[in-house]
Amino acid sequence: MRKGSIVALLGLAVIAGGVATAVALVPTWLPKDASREAGRIDFTFWFVIAICIGIFAVVAAVMIYAVVRFRVPDDDFEDGPPIHGHTGLEITWTAIPFVLVTAIAIVSAIVLSRNDAEAGNTLRIDVTTQQFLWTFSYPDAHDATSPVLRLPEGRSIELDMRSLDVIHAFFVPEFRTNEDIVPGLVTTVHITPDRLGTFPLICNELCGLGHSLMRSQAIVMKPAAFDAWLKQQGKSAAPAPASTTGTTSTSTSTSTSTTPSSSSAAGLSVFNANGCSSCHTLSAAGATGTVGPDLDKLVSYAQQAKQPLAAFVNKSIVDPNAYVESGYPKGVMPETFGQSLSKTQLDALVTFLVQSAQKKKG
Ligand code: CUA
Repeated sequence: MRKGSIVALLGLAVIAGGVATAVALVPTWLPKDASREAGRIDFTFWFVIAICIGIFAVVAAVMIYAVVRFRVPDDDFEDGPPIHGHTGLEITWTAIPFVLVTAIAIVSAIVLSRNDAEAGNTLRIDVTTQQFLWTFSYPDAHDATSPVLRLPEGRSIELDMRSLDVIHAFFVPEFRTNEDIVPGLVTTVHITPDRLGTFPLICNELCGLGHSLMRSQAIVMKPAAFDAWLKQQGKSAAPAPASTTGTTSTSTSTSTSTTPSSSSAAGLSVFNANGCSSCHTLSAAGATGTVGPDLDKLVSYAQQAKQPLAAFVNKSIVDPNAYVESGYPKGVMPETFGQSLSKTQLDALVTFLVQSAQKKKG
């Protein structure tokens, strides 16, 4: 091989590698990471990218050189020269990828096992999903529930995730975590948040009509602020001595003891805690969802169904497919609210919906 060819090939490789490196580094492809696990995932990612850039540079250089240097004249229709194998070359291009792929496998295995390792003083949080909402419940605080995921900075977190209906997936880009949530299984994710802030929490598995609306937030708080919040939640979720009804449920919201006078506020909090706003419009709650029927129009829906308003609203929550407003798909509204809401919560929600619908009407 001539010295000039080697210099030309090297020059082309440097240019191709430089362009690929600029494409990799200049745009901000990834959101700023916010967990210890994310740092390791990013290391793996950039390790693979660096290898890819190296291979790209070599392949692009040889290809461009061959196209330019060995180009045949326009009127040349002869066969090319016969080429026989080159054992040394074949061993080289088998051995190098073998070493690279093995290196990637080792790095990935170390990162995954470290990210999944149990740490001391782990905070456990139960995650329950259903179309199309998230419920986070804290066993350390009498199973108090929250529609957003609040986490203390710097502490190891374990999420134990369940689905009540179809497959969903937990994804927080800043944590670099994605894990399916499969009915009948409990899947876990470990996170050690290391940056304060509010990050989008997304369902990352197509789960039905409201999939794109199945979003929440992960809020990383200072440990002291988190402890104060958790204590507050624990207090309001603690079982009230006498006023609770017979039904206990795993996903009750924070408002189990209510008097009739505060039922409108209680109903609003049940509405918000159960994700109703991701699918429904209701001006009293500032909700603008469009997957399901517009709850400001409940009075006329009940008239069309020829049912008394309160009974109609109650039935539509507990048994949503008994009557589906025309123009809306059947089978989209979860059928689980009859079990997941306590009687007190259901009554508060019905009262709230009836009141706001009547106000809207008059
Ligand atoms: Cu749940 Cu997509």
